[in-house]
Amino acid sequence: MVRSTWRIGLHAVTAALAGLTTLAAVQVPAAAAPTTLRGLADARGVYFGTSSTVNEWNDAPYRSLAERETNMITVGNEMKWDATEPSPGRFDFGPADSLVAAAKAAGQRLRGHTLVWHNQTPGWVQELGTAELRQAMQNHIRTEVAHYRGQLYAWDVVNEAFEENGTLRQSFWQQKLGDGYIAEAFRAARAADPGAKLYYNDYNIEGIAAKSDGVYNLVRTLKQQGVPIDGVGMQAHLILGAVPDSMRQNIQRFVDLGVEVAITELDIRMPLPAEATKLAGQAADYTKVAQACLGVTGCVGITTWALSDKHSWVPSVFPGEGAALPFDENFRPKPAYNALWRAYGGTGGTRTCVATYAVIGQWWGGFQAEVRVTAGAAPITGWTVNWAFAEGQAITSSWNAAFATNGAAITARSLSYNGSLGSGGSTTFGFTGSWTAANSVPAVSCAA
Ligand code: G3I
Repeated sequence: MVRSTWRIGLHAVTAALAGLTTLAAVQVPAAAAPTTLRGLADARGVYFGTSSTVNEWNDAPYRSLAERETNMITVGNEMKWDATEPSPGRFDFGPADSLVAAAKAAGQRLRGHTLVWHNQTPGWVQELGTAELRQAMQNHIRTEVAHYRGQLYAWDVVNEAFEENGTLRQSFWQQKLGDGYIAEAFRAARAADPGAKLYYNDYNIEGIAAKSDGVYNLVRTLKQQGVPIDGVGMQAHLILGAVPDSMRQNIQRFVDLGVEVAITELDIRMPLPAEATKLAGQAADYTKVAQACLGVTGCVGITTWALSDKHSWVPSVFPGEGAALPFDENFRPKPAYNALWRAYGGTGGTRTCVATYAVIGQWWGGFQAEVRVTAGAAPITGWTVNWAFAEGQAITSSWNAAFATNGAAITARSLSYNGSLGSGGSTTFGFTGSWTAANSVPAVSCAA
């Protein structure tokens, strides 16, 4: 548990009370040390983020983890063209709006992803002739960016426009509109939201190589032409043991062009099964990436593509590979999490825990639930789990935790015999409760 500590400001007291016969000690609160990556990132003035789809956000343990550990959300799929304009001029922002509202309510900033891409763009767009395609692109950007005007930190305006050899990708965009479509897209986005940072985003541009050279030359040209580009997103879908040595130097050369850089979709995959040696290697790779970014003023933050291995895109696209993220399928922190923790300036072990809530029996009017608390990589000596019942549920009896209720808000604290958990160790507590109309699983958070 994090305790607020108090310091005595003796110098101030002595000065202020000079001349008084009785010297009183004045207590000033010391700033609490961050206990999460989010807190560390906030303190450092950078961000740590994750992508989230609506489905992921609706997975309660995922949501509570994302709210606890991240201060930036990238909308995973719901802002892409196939989601927002599935047929000409018919816009649907509903799913993306729900994520934007949820992230804002949790005090997180947002990255918009993505406006002009060759994937997840409906067939009707790809079939248009040149003039109509240009008009559709302008209209799409204008409408979507204006819809979120003032609400997003950044937009990935153009995504993955380069081939591996550093030439422009022969996408339908490039083939029909020519090279100039990129500048047109940025200009349209700036006109629709002058406050959002406008990014070019791509993969395999983390190290200095032909592809990143191509992007570098593009950005330099755009800047020379006065095209409004503010940032370069390096996706960083990386492979265990293959983080480029030139990553930091590469980030620096982009910053030197006058743009900011962000790591936008970090994951580091490995052949499955994951075991200790690979996880340790992965942690070293996460350290290398985080130090490359955070070591350059102008690299503004790191986003992982999902937070936990449960939601990663990797296994479905690279069969036999996975375990690419800082939390495992059960939301337990991996060595990669501790690597990020230290790279963001954390000390003394992470002292994190994760809680998962499960209804293990339900009958008319009543239910039994079990909450599992799991320590992170560092041992903990006490835990507190919080959640709110949104549907009027009430606890009738409980075991293995000290409960406090305040309206719908529930706090469960460890007892003398189950607060200490070793690295990765877990314990459970439970309760029976009553419910009426609905009994969905609430988002739970755990603090150690
Ligand atoms: O929505 C349909 C659903 O109706 C259908 O039943 C289901 C059956 O496969 O597919 C669903 O669509 C899937 C969609 O994700 C939503 O889950 C698509 O098949 C699937 O291809 C799509 O994958 C997304 C992928 O981009 C597409 O390119 C991943 O979720 C998303 O994580 C991934 O993200 C990309 C970034 O945008 C750009 N950089 C690379 C990154 C990883 O591929």
